[in-house]
Amino acid sequence: MNGDRTPAIDNRLEVSAGGLRLANPVMPASGCFGPELADVARLGPLGAVVTKTVFRGVRSGNPAHRLAEVASGMLNSVGIPSLGVHRFRREILPSYRRLGAPVIVSIGGLSVQDYWDVAEELADEEFAAFEVNVSCPNLEHNGLEIGSTPRELERVTRGVRERAGGRPVIVKLTPNVSSIGLIARAAEAAGADLLTVANTYLGMSVDLPDRRATLGSTTGGLSGPSVKPLVMRLVWQTVREVGIPVIACGGACTAEDVAEYLVVGAVAVQVGTANFTQPTTMSEIVAALPATLDRLGARTVSDLVGTLVSA
Ligand SMILES: Cc1cc2nc3c(=O)[nH]c(=O)nc-3n(C[C@H](O)[C@H](O)[C@H](O)COP(=O)(O)O)c2cc1C
Repeated sequence: MNGDRTPAIDNRLEVSAGGLRLANPVMPASGCFGPELADVARLGPLGAVVTKTVFRGVRSGNPAHRLAEVASGMLNSVGIPSLGVHRFRREILPSYRRLGAPVIVSIGGLSVQDYWDVAEELADEEFAAFEVNVSCPNLEHNGLEIGSTPRELERVTRGVRERAGGRPVIVKLTPNVSSIGLIARAAEAAGADLLTVANTYLGMSVDLPDRRATLGSTTGGLSGPSVKPLVMRLVWQTVREVGIPVIACGGACTAEDVAEYLVVGAVAVQVGTANFTQPTTMSEIVAALPATLDRLGARTVSDLVGTLVSA
């Protein structure tokens, strides 16, 4: 543990939603923060920590280049390398637990059965919740993202729910759909306790002198400040479509960004790309939140949730 991790828990920041109890509404987005960064980042109390997505077997990820900087954002095609669920259990999960915040384990799969197997393998471990990353290609359905088809999403969610050992199941939606409401309702109907909105937007960029795609796998996922207004709309819409709590994820960098997401109805916010540019971002947001609440005339975080004034 880091000696700087001393700030007292402020009960104005507490969140209780969908079976999760969090000291504050801030947590890392999956794949954007690992235990190895905890000391560098002078990690204060976080609401939770979310692991990088774990798959059933070993995956090596996509060809280089895997990251590209674009205007106010980042394109990535990491392809989620994974050591597989057995090594995750033995070697990786314990290091997340040592961070002292509730651990949310992100699981992925290349088929519906993959998700079920990973959930089953981890069911006896100690952690707070599953986050189901449904932005993975379904190799049984032409490589379409599992989360873009309500039927497949429902099968994944229902099966993970059955194997979750009573823990909350969070489904992390893909933004690459024409109706987020349809997909969100499918996840809720299949037993999701919370939703995370959203994973990255599909995109690409070109290296002009070479006339090649910048990323080794041609397309990738866009994240960072440029996606915040897009995700804001998705969160706002999702909250109106479902009765379960929503965690926002997209472009958050400051306490004001977190407050905006709370106002449109999110109960908590994940921080992704901002951790790469400034590893202390999450701790700085948590430290700034009480003053942000004061400025907005709110006593607690919950006082802000869903308070958007309609036009
Ligand atoms: C380098 C990188 C790796 C990522 N890895 C994962 C992952 O393993 N699982 C997942 O669900 N999302 C992953 N994501 C998506 C983020 O969790 C998040 O949904 C997205 O970046 C949007 O948030 P942001 O704009 O705050 O970065 C990754 C994103 C980046 C940039």
